[in-house]
Amino acid sequence: MRFIKFFSIVMVFLTILTISFSASADLDSKSHNSNKHRQKSSEKKSPPPSPRPPPRSRRATSPPPYNNGGRNSGNGKMVFNVVSFGAVGNGVKDDTTAFKMAWGNACKSEQTATLHVPKGYSFMVQTIIFTGPCKSNLIFQVEGTIMPPDGPNSWPSKANKREWLVFKQMKAMSIQGSGLIDGRGKKWWDLPCKPHKALRFSDSSNLLLRGLRFQNSPKVHVIFSECENVRVEYITIKAPGDSPNTDGVHLSKSNNVKIYNSIIGTGDDCVSIVSGCHSVDIKNVTCGPSHGMSIGSLGKGNSKACVKNITVRDSLIAQSSNGVRIKTWQGGLGTVSRVTFQNIRMDNVRNPIIVDQYYCEHSRNCPNKTSAVFVSDILYTGIRGTYDTRSPPVHVACSDSLPCSNLTMSAVELHPAQGRDNRQKKMNPFCWKAYGTLKTNTVPPISCLLHGTPKKRVDNQC
Ligand SMILES: *[C@@H]1O[C@H](CO)[C@@H](O)[C@H](O)[C@H]1NC(C)=O
Ligand SMILES: *[C@@H]1O[C@H](CO)[C@@H](O)[C@H](O)[C@H]1NC(C)=O
Ligand SMILES: *[C@@H]1O[C@H](CO)[C@@H](O)[C@H](O)[C@H]1NC(C)=O
Ligand SMILES: *[C@@H]1O[C@H](CO)[C@@H](O)[C@H](O)[C@H]1NC(C)=O
Repeated sequence: MRFIKFFSIVMVFLTILTISFSASADLDSKSHNSNKHRQKSSEKKSPPPSPRPPPRSRRATSPPPYNNGGRNSGNGKMVFNVVSFGAVGNGVKDDTTAFKMAWGNACKSEQTATLHVPKGYSFMVQTIIFTGPCKSNLIFQVEGTIMPPDGPNSWPSKANKREWLVFKQMKAMSIQGSGLIDGRGKKWWDLPCKPHKALRFSDSSNLLLRGLRFQNSPKVHVIFSECENVRVEYITIKAPGDSPNTDGVHLSKSNNVKIYNSIIGTGDDCVSIVSGCHSVDIKNVTCGPSHGMSIGSLGKGNSKACVKNITVRDSLIAQSSNGVRIKTWQGGLGTVSRVTFQNIRMDNVRNPIIVDQYYCEHSRNCPNKTSAVFVSDILYTGIRGTYDTRSPPVHVACSDSLPCSNLTMSAVELHPAQGRDNRQKKMNPFCWKAYGTLKTNTVPPISCLLHGTPKKRVDNQC
């Protein structure tokens, strides 16, 4: 037996050597660590498909061929299935180590690597910080379910519960598939402590997030911070309308972000955009229940905030406490500018159009301040549908000392939604220190915008 085993190992090894040799012979010598997406050049020196070496192999002294545990799927791609790294996926066993090993190997692969999370399994994993950059373009293919331990008592006491799935320093990555990221947030929602978010990307570029479903995160579902060139599409995020702080997608210090063709309904903002973001395009998103599409909050603790070139278009916001919102604290510096809200249908939304420069969390008594984040060049066009008559359809409350400038409204048509008592009480638009123009008549008529332009303050430059 031993001899046969030894013999077969030697044979496998020899075969690998032979194939390796012939494979490297016809390789080009292009660099493989530039960070754009090509894969032809990444075939360099990669070994051929190799079966996973048997555990406790005597070969330990000679280095195993790399891409351990990977399977070559042809066309120069390697597949790393978490199950071949020992993940069980029965929803009970902790599969953290297997995920880390699969990642470690996939990330080292010189060929385009797919980290595969197969369908029909529920993988329970604790916090994992997936750190790049990886050797080549990485695809994280999620077809099964990934979930954390169920609530605070199921986490090992020493575990870091502030994060869950984190990707950092990635240069090119897709995370895609029809799988589910189940945050199991229920047991956290009532607690005062702030537990982990579901998925966080930081300090990364060229990211694609496609097709996945998310549900019930303890906190925010998906965060991008300090990311560049991000495309999110065909994702679904669901959490109960009364679950606290369960924002759908949160963007911070990120730019060139596209969020398309997605469905989000949670207990907080569908998308929240905070300081340092620019060039964000949101299109065809169905949002609700929720607190709406939000820019802010900004300027907390007198901080400087800069947000510009944001577009939200061709979307539906339904059964939500806000529609399109800009919210800033009193105090603070910087600007929010060049924002377009275009072709958005509102369905029973409490504040369809809202600018609130007096934002004060939990209505604590926030002191009056003279500095403010400057809000300018905001376009509302094609905002139609119904509003919940507990609030006015248009509520623009700008800073006393630094009024909003150049608000443009056109084709705004908002009707009262049928109330609980079946009466359609109308509410008048409300504006305070809001300078702007109407490009068309509106329903209801908006007559509270001020003409002209207020002074711009130098210390608000971004
Ligand atoms: C809008 O998004 C939905 C949900 O993903 C999708 O089914 C639909 O095809 C998209 N519409 C367009 C015009 O892309
Ligand atoms: C504004 O954002 C869009 C993406 O939504 C981008 O294509 C465009 O280049 C940006 N414009 C500027 C001036 O940065
Ligand atoms: C802040 O200003 C408002 C409006 O001028 C005033 O009604 C309110 O009492 C002030 N609040 C404080 C804490 O000074
Ligand atoms: C007013 O804002 C719009 C965008 O909403 C922009 O196109 C226009 O240039 C701005 N006008 C001025 C005078 O800055």
